[in-house]
Parts: sequence; C-alpha cells; structure tokens
Amino acid sequence: MSVQVKEKKITVSTLLKKKAEKEKITMLTAYDCSTARYFDEAGIDTILVGDSLGMVILGYESTHNVSMEEMKIFTSAVCRGAKRAFVVADMPFLSYQTTVEDAVKNAGALIQSGASAVKLEGATDLILSVIKRLTETGIPVVGHLGFTPQYLNVLGGYKVQGKSYENTLTMLEQAKKLEAAGAFAVVLEMVPEESAEFITKQLKIPTIGIGAGKYCDGQVLVCDDILGKFSEFKPKFARRYANFQEEIMQAAQKYISDVKTAAFPDAAESFHLNEEEMKKLESYK
Ligand code: KIV
Repeated sequence: MSVQVKEKKITVSTLLKKKAEKEKITMLTAYDCSTARYFDEAGIDTILVGDSLGMVILGYESTHNVSMEEMKIFTSAVCRGAKRAFVVADMPFLSYQTTVEDAVKNAGALIQSGASAVKLEGATDLILSVIKRLTETGIPVVGHLGFTPQYLNVLGGYKVQGKSYENTLTMLEQAKKLEAAGAFAVVLEMVPEESAEFITKQLKIPTIGIGAGKYCDGQVLVCDDILGKFSEFKPKFARRYANFQEEIMQAAQKYISDVKTAAFPDAAESFHLNEEEMKKLESYK
C-alpha cells in the first residue's frame, strides 16, 4: 500500500526556521484561485495577495485605488487555491494609516477572508502601534521597507532606496523597530544588494527581497512579471520565466481565425442528436 505523504502547511514558525537554517524562502504574488493552486502545487512557500493587483489586474495607475472590498475578494479567491502555502494579504492604502482600530478591523477582515497574515508599508509611530496591536490580536504581520508603493507620491517615483550609508542605517533602524513591534518578516523593495545584506544580517526575522539582491532570506516577485503577462513596464529586477503575453495573443489570434473559417468547433467539440431524433428532424417539412 502506498502512503501519500502530504507536505505540512507552511506557518510563521516554518518561515522563521528557514531563516535560522539559512534556507531561502520563496514568495510569489497571486490574485486568483487557479494561479494560487499551481504555485502551491509547484512548492512555493508563501503567496502574497499584493495590492499590485490594482495595477496588474484592475488596470489602475498605482496601488492607491485598491479598496478593502477588492482585497477581500482576491484574498478569498487565492486562499481557496492555496492549500499548503502561507498566504499574506496586503493591507490597501488608507486601511491602516488612520487609526489602530481601523487597522485591526481591516486586517481582521483579510484574515476572515482566509489570509494567514497581512503586510503593511512603512515604520511610522502609528504603523509600529498597529503592528503591535495586530500581533497582540493574533494577526501575524509582514513589514515593507525600501521602495514602498503606497508612498509613491512622496518618494517621487520608482526609485532605489537606501543608497547611502546613512540611508541604510535609517532603514536598519526602521527594520529593527518593525521586528521589536512584532513583525515576523520584512519585505525590502528596491534596495542596494549590499544594504539589504547588511540589514538581513542584523535581523532575527527574515527579509524577503524584491530588487534587493541575493542575500535576503527570501525573494518575492509579482506573478504577472515572471509570467511575462504585465507589459506596461518591466522592472530591472523582474526576471521573466514565461511569455504569456505572446502566448495569449497567439491563442486569441488562432481562435479568431478558426471561428472565422468554421474550423472551430469540430464534431468532437459539439453535442449531437441520436439517429432517431435526427431522422425526425430530417423528415420535418
Ligand atoms: O503588492 C505587491 O505585489 C508587493 C510586492 C511588490 C512585494 O507589495
């Protein structure tokens, strides 16, 4: 009799253990059930329902327009597909920057949608209080430093952060405050490799890099970037593993041509009457 060994569900402890054992953590974004299922079955550790969905799925110009309602819908879709991977949901703009109470209510709604943790950006005093309260409430939190898309207008564009010794020390200080407040991991986005390595070495919690070099404890990329599906722009750090844009267009063009030439559908793709019913139809005058 063959015994199927099911891989254990990834938890916060699994991720912390990976850092301790110097095993890299893998994270990809996903926004729908089937993609989440494929990533889960492929063996990804963590799936981020990023508010990047505003740009790559909903066609907004930035992440600022993403609402709690949208995040809840996409989070529950992803959670229906991810059985083993640890799902983190992004808290959208203004869902946690007003009061600690708002943040608890909104983070709680994402957990009730199926996520195992939430991610939020920055390290202001309010954000630190939010992280502390969420952790006390039983909601694991991932921080996000470096280029933080919700601060796009203050940062003045998609720019690498922490480019000097002083800025790196400031980011380290922020990361340590996130860790002390209870965050169990921190995303470092668009940070020089050397700065990210320095910060990674000083923290007990794992760093997950995106455009932050190879020394982070883990890596995250946006799924539409790795699949070659998002074509508005290609960040320098986003490696493409497939060309879905081309494949989707080729499939659509072939379909259009098959429909126009009546090559689709064929007999096997159609439903048919049995002979008796056919004869009746044929004798209809
Ligand atoms: O929203 C997102 O996809 C993110 C990643 C870029 C880390 O926050």
